[in-house]
Amino acid sequence: MATSMNGRALARARNQALRARIAALPRPPGLAVVLVGADPASQVYVGRKATVAVRLGLHHQQLDLPASTPEVELLGLIDRLNADPLVDGILVQVPLPVHMDRQRVLDRIDPAKDVDGFHPWNMGLLAQGRPRFVACTPRGIMALLAEHGVPLQGQRAVVVGRSTIVGRPVSLLLDAANATVTVCHSRTRDLEARVREADVVVVAVGKPDAVPAAWIKPGAAVVDVGVNRLEDGTLVGDLGAGPELEAAGWVTPVPGGVGPMTIAMLMANTVESAERRLAQG
Ligand code: GUN
Repeated sequence: MATSMNGRALARARNQALRARIAALPRPPGLAVVLVGADPASQVYVGRKATVAVRLGLHHQQLDLPASTPEVELLGLIDRLNADPLVDGILVQVPLPVHMDRQRVLDRIDPAKDVDGFHPWNMGLLAQGRPRFVACTPRGIMALLAEHGVPLQGQRAVVVGRSTIVGRPVSLLLDAANATVTVCHSRTRDLEARVREADVVVVAVGKPDAVPAAWIKPGAAVVDVGVNRLEDGTLVGDLGAGPELEAAGWVTPVPGGVGPMTIAMLMANTVESAERRLAQG
């Protein structure tokens, strides 16, 4: 039977461990979360981030802007948050409305407050092997793998999906852990063959059954980043169901796998940012 990598339990432990560090600071770490529009999934994610931030005693503010907000107004808000000494972390939830240039918006965030790790400066540091802010979901995935003792060194890792949020940064982290990494995407020829030879599989495409269970090699570790709501309301990941998963080594559940880890790593990044900024005076 495959080991289930329980993200809820590990996230709880990681959040708990942050409490002492937060208490040691002269003021609470400040996190500003910007939500543009009313995408229901984004509202749920942002709400969860708020709940955990408040529970940990962070100075949390959520800024809700209507979907019709001109981009220049959002940029102005980011400028104000960049200049606010009590704000240590800024997160602009994506996706953004189509009239906005996502890269221009994310590039505007002060890299020293970029707790999402999406700024090219932070992505560049990660690519150079000297990470500062690492994107929350990839960081959470690596924490889950480490917690369960999943071997990475010399192992074949296959990442399905190459987004800035998950696929690209997690491939860099797996590479830094000395796995041999293959990044697959919609144009990949024979995805099945790539997945079948993988010791570690990370699936982050946002499509149910993107990787069928039958492709998973016995003993492999599978991290399912997908959160897809089916027409009947059920929540499923990107990994298909099937008896073959019983022969896997480790599998993340959906929900309760990667999701809670993303939030815990956002809290960790925010606390680290506050520690760093306060140490600089
Ligand atoms: N949308 C989905 N995941 C994320 C995330 O980790 N950060 C932000 N800003 N938006 C997201």
